[in-house]
Amino acid sequence: MEEALKIGIAGTGRMGAAIATRLLARGHAVTVWNRTPQKAQELAASGATVAATPEELTARSEFVITMLTDAAAIDATYRGAHGLLAGDVRGKVFIDMSTVRPEVEKALAASARGKGAALVECPVGGTVAPAKEGKLFGFVGGEASDVERARPLLDELCRRVEHVGAIGAGASVKLAINLPLLVYYQALGEALSLCQSVGIEPARLIDIFSDTSGGPNMLKVRGPLIAATLQGKETSPVTFDVDLIRKDLRTMLDEASGLGVPLPLTAQALALYDEAARNGLGASDSTMLPAYWLRHGTSRPADR
Ligand SMILES: NC(=O)c1ccc[n+]([C@@H]2O[C@H](COP(=O)([O-])OP(=O)(O)OC[C@H]3O[C@@H](n4cnc5c(N)ncnc54)[C@H](OP(=O)(O)O)[C@@H]3O)[C@@H](O)[C@H]2O)c1
Repeated sequence: MEEALKIGIAGTGRMGAAIATRLLARGHAVTVWNRTPQKAQELAASGATVAATPEELTARSEFVITMLTDAAAIDATYRGAHGLLAGDVRGKVFIDMSTVRPEVEKALAASARGKGAALVECPVGGTVAPAKEGKLFGFVGGEASDVERARPLLDELCRRVEHVGAIGAGASVKLAINLPLLVYYQALGEALSLCQSVGIEPARLIDIFSDTSGGPNMLKVRGPLIAATLQGKETSPVTFDVDLIRKDLRTMLDEASGLGVPLPLTAQALALYDEAARNGLGASDSTMLPAYWLRHGTSRPADR
């Protein structure tokens, strides 16, 4: 990118902080805000300005990126008394990267438009490391002219930017793509329970899975972490936790119920991950799920 942009980032959790780090390294003027101030302060050492409120963040920025947990977080951050949309936002471009339902993005775009601003959605594929390297996959929804304004910035964060349709389309595609991935963690635990007795060393076994139709793309990247969990290691740092998986699965099920389509496998995966969370796994990395299943799940009676 030739010219430094004034970019605000609201929500400096794991992904938001990684995105801020990337944009600071690219020489942009980055302002951050986070509900828990400490997480925003940590980015000041890398050169970010910390805003006291979301409203101030917008005032300081031409582009505002939001990377928040869910619809409630979006509502509080955008529409609160000193929220992102509270002041004069005319001409600004908001980019929401959170994983939420399409209807949330549609309502948000209407709120922004009503105040003279533009909003595009860009939920992403990829986790903390790709975010720091600008190698996310962006599923963009919005009006073409707004997307073109956001594109130079999105190109700095993503290895591939796909404008998949009007606002809401990005959320639909993102939820769909996460579905097989999230169900896969349980599928892998069950698959491993079938071949545990063979006694193959975990790293080799996971490598075999990842080089065959037994593994999705994710396994090529996160396979070594999963293999380590099978040998009793805890994945750290956490990049995508089990509670976020549960939030995504709930979002998919809500969306499916609105569409009138059944997702029986998704519902079953959520029930199993809810049980894992009740057993203390909620804040653990998703790569812990197959090992958890081998330890706790396989003592149930066989299905038939
Ligand atoms: N982690 C991944 O690999 C990954 C990959 C792709 C997409 N995503 C999606 O990206 C989004 C963020 O994920 P993450 O991993 O960065 O999660 P995270 O580390 O838990 O961060 C969540 C952020 O949302 C904020 N937040 C939550 N509730 C809020 C509220 N009511 N008001 C204001 N702020 C609130 C948190 O603020 P506090 O610090 O105050 O709690 C934090 O900044 C989620 O939608 C997730 O599904 C994650």
